[in-house]
Amino acid sequence: MEIKVYKGDLTQEKADLLVVGHFSDAKSLEGPVAAVDTAMGGRLSRLMKDDGFKAKLASTFLTHTNGEIAAKRVLVVGLGKKDEVNLEAVRQAAAVAVNVAKECGAKIMVSEHHVPGELKAGDCAQAMVEGARLADYSFSRYKKPSQKSPKLFAIVTNDGKILRSSEKGLELGELAARGVVFARDLVNTPAHDMHPETLVDMAKSIAKGKSSIRVRVFDREALKRMGAGGILGVAQGSDHPPYLVHMTYKPKKPTKKSIALVGKAVTFDSGGLSLKPADYMMTMKCDMAGAAAVLGAFSVIADLAPGVEVHGIFGAVENMPSGGAIRPGDVLTAMNKKTMEVLNTDAEGRLTLADTLSYAAKLKPAFIVDLATLTGACVVALGEEITGVMSNDDKVASQTLDAAAAAGEKMWRLPLEKNYKKVIKSQIADLQNIGNKWGGALTAGLFLEEFVDKTPWAHLDIAGPAFAEREIDPYTHKGATGHGVRTLLALLRSL
Ligand code: BES
Ligand code: ZN
Ligand code: ZN
Repeated sequence: MEIKVYKGDLTQEKADLLVVGHFSDAKSLEGPVAAVDTAMGGRLSRLMKDDGFKAKLASTFLTHTNGEIAAKRVLVVGLGKKDEVNLEAVRQAAAVAVNVAKECGAKIMVSEHHVPGELKAGDCAQAMVEGARLADYSFSRYKKPSQKSPKLFAIVTNDGKILRSSEKGLELGELAARGVVFARDLVNTPAHDMHPETLVDMAKSIAKGKSSIRVRVFDREALKRMGAGGILGVAQGSDHPPYLVHMTYKPKKPTKKSIALVGKAVTFDSGGLSLKPADYMMTMKCDMAGAAAVLGAFSVIADLAPGVEVHGIFGAVENMPSGGAIRPGDVLTAMNKKTMEVLNTDAEGRLTLADTLSYAAKLKPAFIVDLATLTGACVVALGEEITGVMSNDDKVASQTLDAAAAAGEKMWRLPLEKNYKKVIKSQIADLQNIGNKWGGALTAGLFLEEFVDKTPWAHLDIAGPAFAEREIDPYTHKGATGHGVRTLLALLRSL
């Protein structure tokens, strides 16, 4: 699907599907939808009225034009209430239009450039591209997509100023979508085709031919020398060896300031000897979604070209039960020398992150952001669509939450309650890897805090939003979502 913005008159466009927006509280048709209605002799508004079309956000009204205008069909997309309209509404409107275009097999799709209310044309163009590209996504490695994508998605405006200010937005939208799609493909890939080694290859392929990105890879022998007991311990039960991957992006103008992005990279989480029940194991190929988000961001970082140095770090492992696997009761020593009693081998993410965060903290970045499908408890707390943010630093927390809000990803801060540290104190080691029954997302966050060495840090528990078990919205279909990538890109842009 090619996406472009150009100047034109919607009523003259030869499209298979013409898309216009409409507000639920508009007294009469306004702007492009009114122009199309007039060109159709008022038939469009009569039909909308007859059908009781309410224009609720992302609702649709589709009709043939009977040759009254150049386009074959008109799709009216609901934008919701005028004073509630935001970039997310624009993103969803574009997404729903692409979904309808695919259903009716439209090859050429032309849409009004939605720039409602006080929104900026560039931001709207970006949101439309993101919505369209992500709605169009399907995972096609093992079967052909059942629907064809439109050949062209043209965003048309008759306003020269809007056109000019859309260029950059178009570019940013393409960039963000490319990063998200990269992450979705990695997460959707089943674990038999996605081993720790595969993630290493992905990091290398991202860096290939780009002078601004370097990759260092630490194998099992190197990890032993570094004392990465968490990563080594979790990997013990798997036939696939672990790796620690460290990517570095350096901006053209050298800077002292660097930040670190860390991702959980468990290519499959069976639970280990604390084996998961079958129902819970079904989607556990998604347990490397944190690293996938970091890789997704790195896949476009050279084009985004932020002005700070960025480290991307993950410890890739597979969590399997076997004769060699770690046992409940075993004690592991992390890279920062803290000892961890493994009471449940299914709480493996924090064991690997213990090393990865220790490694990141040693680089002395201005701050660390980690993304991890860490706890089912976070999904219980916030549901499937919202990421839990835990942080030891109010500024980093709000920077992260602001970036998420700008990117249209739902995140909510949870507390790192000091008094709960008691429940992760071990009888025989510095820490134990599970708390009690309650507040599991928070005790996991507190566990991680032990390894960042006071570096300002935000932990994003993406266990809910990383993988959609149902249709979430018009551009988030079932399967991997690529959640986190857009927030990371917005964060990098804000620095
Ligand atoms: N990978 C899981 C968490 C998870 C759950 C991710 C649902 C995505 C969706 C993690 O390794 C895990 O198993 N956590 C345990 C921790 C518990 C044993 C303390 C959990 O949440 O049950
Ligand atoms: Zn687990
Ligand atoms: Zn896990």
